[in-house]
Amino acid sequence: MCGIIGAVAQRNVEAILVAGLKRLEYRGYDSAGLALIDAQEEIVRARVEGKVDLLAAQLKQHPLHGHTGIAHTRWATHGAPSEKNAHPHMSGSDFALVHNGIIENYSELREELIKLGYVFNSQTDTEVIVHLLAEQYKGSKDLLTAVKQTIERLHGAFALAILYRPEPQHIIAVRKGSPLVIGLGIEENFLASDQLALLPVTQEFIYLEEGDIADLHADKVLIYDAHGKSVERKIQHSDLQHQSVERGAYRHFMLKEIFEQPIAISNTLEGRIINSQVPDEIFGVHASKTFEKIKQVQIVACGTSYHAGLVARYWLESMARIPCRVEVASEIRYRNPVVQAGTLFVTLSQSGETADTLAALREAKKTGYAATLAICNVPQSSLVRESDLVLLTRAGPEIGVASTKAFTTQLVALLLLTIVLGRRHGLTNEKVLLSELQQLPRLLEETLTLAKPIEKLAEQFVLKNNSLFLGRGAQYPIALEGALKLKEISYIHAEAYPAGELKHGPLALIDEDMPVIAIAPNDDLLEKLKSNLQEVRARGGKLFVFADAIVAIEKHPDIQIITVPSVSAVIASIVYTIPMQLLAYYVAYLKGTDIDKPRNLAKSVTVE
Ligand code: M6R
Repeated sequence: MCGIIGAVAQRNVEAILVAGLKRLEYRGYDSAGLALIDAQEEIVRARVEGKVDLLAAQLKQHPLHGHTGIAHTRWATHGAPSEKNAHPHMSGSDFALVHNGIIENYSELREELIKLGYVFNSQTDTEVIVHLLAEQYKGSKDLLTAVKQTIERLHGAFALAILYRPEPQHIIAVRKGSPLVIGLGIEENFLASDQLALLPVTQEFIYLEEGDIADLHADKVLIYDAHGKSVERKIQHSDLQHQSVERGAYRHFMLKEIFEQPIAISNTLEGRIINSQVPDEIFGVHASKTFEKIKQVQIVACGTSYHAGLVARYWLESMARIPCRVEVASEIRYRNPVVQAGTLFVTLSQSGETADTLAALREAKKTGYAATLAICNVPQSSLVRESDLVLLTRAGPEIGVASTKAFTTQLVALLLLTIVLGRRHGLTNEKVLLSELQQLPRLLEETLTLAKPIEKLAEQFVLKNNSLFLGRGAQYPIALEGALKLKEISYIHAEAYPAGELKHGPLALIDEDMPVIAIAPNDDLLEKLKSNLQEVRARGGKLFVFADAIVAIEKHPDIQIITVPSVSAVIASIVYTIPMQLLAYYVAYLKGTDIDKPRNLAKSVTVE
């Protein structure tokens, strides 16, 4: 999704802005641009359709200089990807603005501004904001007042960074629904959609709150809250090193992140198991009191995080005996569900900024849930800040658009939740589960040795257009996740089914061109799954079965078996995720797609 960066310094900030845009690339985008106020006190601008490297090349040919500037990567919502639609947008020669988010009432504002004589050069909703700002300024002759008046008229969620030519000493930034962080330097200050963009220049951050307006100068940052009151916001130190968001020896961030899973899971578990028990307090100081009154769980998330929720439903119901519902955030937020007393509302999110999940949480807080819990990877995210209880997944920065280590660490966190809730409802095997969890990093290391054989296997998928993933029980969500990974980065159509459903329709699709991937750990449903695989075989389907060594699968030229380390049924969902990720990665690699930034997708979906 769109990325914003801004800088006010005593030095030329062009290179800082371009480097920041590079670090925001992972969010997904289709065009990029930047504007600076130069020594002649003019706003100078460069924009391109396409990659930041293209912008950098253009700036190499025609460098821009300035101590104050803003820059942007655009992920198209209103108007196609093009140079004209790329940010920054300008009103006359005085105002330049970059924007992340959506302005819902942009068409009525656009008509109003056209009547006032403003000429639009793009199809974006953003251009409305900059002209409206110019119009408001005519009345107040004060930039901050004009910004406040402008945002009062905007409906939607947004983050803004604004340059005003006659006042080159500062940038105004607004956070309303879309994330924005201030980075504090020495005699220079910065802003960005994400702290990762600023790590090379600072490790001191201020996370703006909803409705905040910041006035950034090189030597000071003034912040006003949603009511216009001057406020101090806490400065937070980040221990993240900028190298931690570099690819190192790996070809892609996705591959690096797949291989980081053993260590990521060790980090998720660290300090969360004490004396062979999971203390309630890992979810927050008041967690015990809250958990006492929990009778059911509602999980809400999007995409891969939603799949983690689906796995947790199996765990919470079968082991903890707690009723659990799971729903995608974009649906529940508009559905007005019946909320039963004693329901814990759990959100799952890597970024903690996914617009639908955040909106669902905000709705939930008005509708009688017993408490809200966020399981999230980003400590400073809106989701974390707005939830009663929190469990951080500690996966470390995830840059590849395809979520990998965020998913498996979410599963670990959800198993911890199953344990703490379950012991109040008769779960007795806490110690066994914990010992299995503690073995996970080693088991995942072992599973990762499948990379080579899976790379070879991937050759058989490159020319396929469709694929089918099958699983049963808690492996069905893993089939869904495998299918999502494959379609997302290789662009091969992939569907997932609970294997028992095959005969109710999808069997009609089976032929030699439809690879069928089956997840077959040694669990209670194995024999049932084997019968389902026979149904595929009998219709000439080509099977790729990921199975435990002790699972006897019929030998046949059309059945390829990939042996996965022996694991218990519970942690199988986590272990079998790894080969699904590797398969998607290697198919996409052989197809030559843009693995870390697949087409049309964004890492952090901060618009509805
Ligand atoms: O940051 P979140 O976990 O809230 O993101 C939710 C989805 O957008 C995300 O999981 C998406 O489905 C991934 N690209 C899948 O790989």
